[in-house]
Amino acid sequence: MRIGILGSGLMGGKLGTLFARSGHDVVFSYARSADKLKRLAKEAGHNARAGTPAEAAQDADALLLAIHWLRIDDVLKQAGELSGKVILTCSLPMDAGNTGLVIGQTSSGAEELAKKVPKANVVCAFNTVPSEVFFGVYEAKRKAKRPSLVYCGDDARSKEVAAGLIRDVGFEAIDAGPLRIARYTEPFALLMGQLAYEGTDGPELAYRFERYPG
Ligand SMILES: NC(=O)c1ccc[n+]([C@@H]2O[C@H](COP(=O)([O-])OP(=O)(O)OC[C@H]3O[C@@H](n4cnc5c(N)ncnc54)[C@H](OP(=O)(O)O)[C@@H]3O)[C@@H](O)[C@H]2O)c1
Repeated sequence: MRIGILGSGLMGGKLGTLFARSGHDVVFSYARSADKLKRLAKEAGHNARAGTPAEAAQDADALLLAIHWLRIDDVLKQAGELSGKVILTCSLPMDAGNTGLVIGQTSSGAEELAKKVPKANVVCAFNTVPSEVFFGVYEAKRKAKRPSLVYCGDDARSKEVAAGLIRDVGFEAIDAGPLRIARYTEPFALLMGQLAYEGTDGPELAYRFERYPG
């Protein structure tokens, strides 16, 4: 697939690299320096290149939105027409100081994003994982027991695209239901961040759901 990365920081940089290593064509966009985008593309290999958000969106089969919540309107404006696009968002609706969610309980960042781009298909995924985990999970992906990763969305085809990418990166994809479930996954992402950055085990932490034997 062709995958456009909107926001090439910790999340977008790592996930874009792994999508490229999994064989997808990747365009890295939206960082403060063009050199950084070029470096990322070079490191990710021959399937990757640097571009503008509009170039990342053009012909993309899927877009990864990985920006701070305050940048959302700017990046959408730069990306241009997104009708019919699959948008995977890992962006959390955090306040400027990254101390808490500015949307919650009765809505979620993913649902508010869907309202901003009503003709696109938003899937909420990857935000429950500290970025430091991605390379380790990818390298261990042939192991029988993969860590779980929940995703949610309203469009079945877009969710299939998301599930495929989640598996490509090395996780087991768990369908959590419609997009409104992001109201529960986004606070869960804060728990994962808390455990990763303020807990004792550090960010090398990926969760797994297991069925309790009945
Ligand atoms: N990091 C995690 O472990 C994690 C986990 C779960 C969810 N999330 C969520 O994922 C989203 C992305 O997080 P992140 O950690 O990847 O953030 P980040 O490292 O700060 O990346 C954000 C990207 O946006 C770019 N950017 C910021 N201001 C810009 C501007 N004015 N013009 C152009 N580009 C600009 C940054 O450019 P530069 O590259 O030049 O800085 C960077 O590439 C956030 O919503 C966060 O809450 C993150």
